[in-house]
Amino acid sequence: MTQNLIPVIAIDGPSASGKGTVAQRVADALGFHYLDSGAIYRLTALAAQQQGVSWSDEDAVSSVAQYLDVVFDGEAILLAGVDVSNTIRSEEIGSGASQIAALPKVRAALLARQQAFAKVPGLVADGRDMASVVFPAAPLKIFLTASAAARAERRYKQLIARGETANLAVITADLEARDARDRARSVAPLAQAPDAYLLDTTEMDIDSAVKQVLTWWTKKLK
Ligand code: DC
Repeated sequence: MTQNLIPVIAIDGPSASGKGTVAQRVADALGFHYLDSGAIYRLTALAAQQQGVSWSDEDAVSSVAQYLDVVFDGEAILLAGVDVSNTIRSEEIGSGASQIAALPKVRAALLARQQAFAKVPGLVADGRDMASVVFPAAPLKIFLTASAAARAERRYKQLIARGETANLAVITADLEARDARDRARSVAPLAQAPDAYLLDTTEMDIDSAVKQVLTWWTKKLK
């Protein structure tokens, strides 16, 4: 079956908007596969760091991206056989992911790897360019966002709940820097696709956001 025939729900949005949680929950509700495309950029940043490759070296990082040895096994994400599912969630790797994501050759090297996740019965994919570049034919596109203050507070609570130390002002500054870089880059910048629904979750809990996405999906099916 060609990729265009697989139903895809594309959910894009900025860092810490909750799009990952919403996307995963929607995928579970529909029995669809789930792609966390940010994890692929994070894995590339981590693999480059482990191989002593600078995050600004476009050719070397794109080669790392091309030969990335990754296995998604339920909750576990294995890089060269080692579970790195927690390691890739650090702020440092998040920032590295944002830096390497601005390099066109790296994005090109990761494209087919992301598209391969589209399998029957369907896929929910979250990221920055799911609607614009990776799955432009997706029947449902959503731009899921929240105010920077709300997102910083969510990330802060997440880190504290994990027992890590966190500083709200530092998190807010990091988020804003990352958003600015993701929006300003020349390839596949973070932006709402013209045909995407806007879902602002600043004043909304996860359950309501999931419900809204499922309502839009049901409407599309009709
Ligand atoms: O969603 P996330 O925070 O895990 O993503 C980490 C970085 O990867 C993000 O700052 C930008 C980049 N990214 C991207 O450029 N395109 C995607 N589809 C997903 C993530």
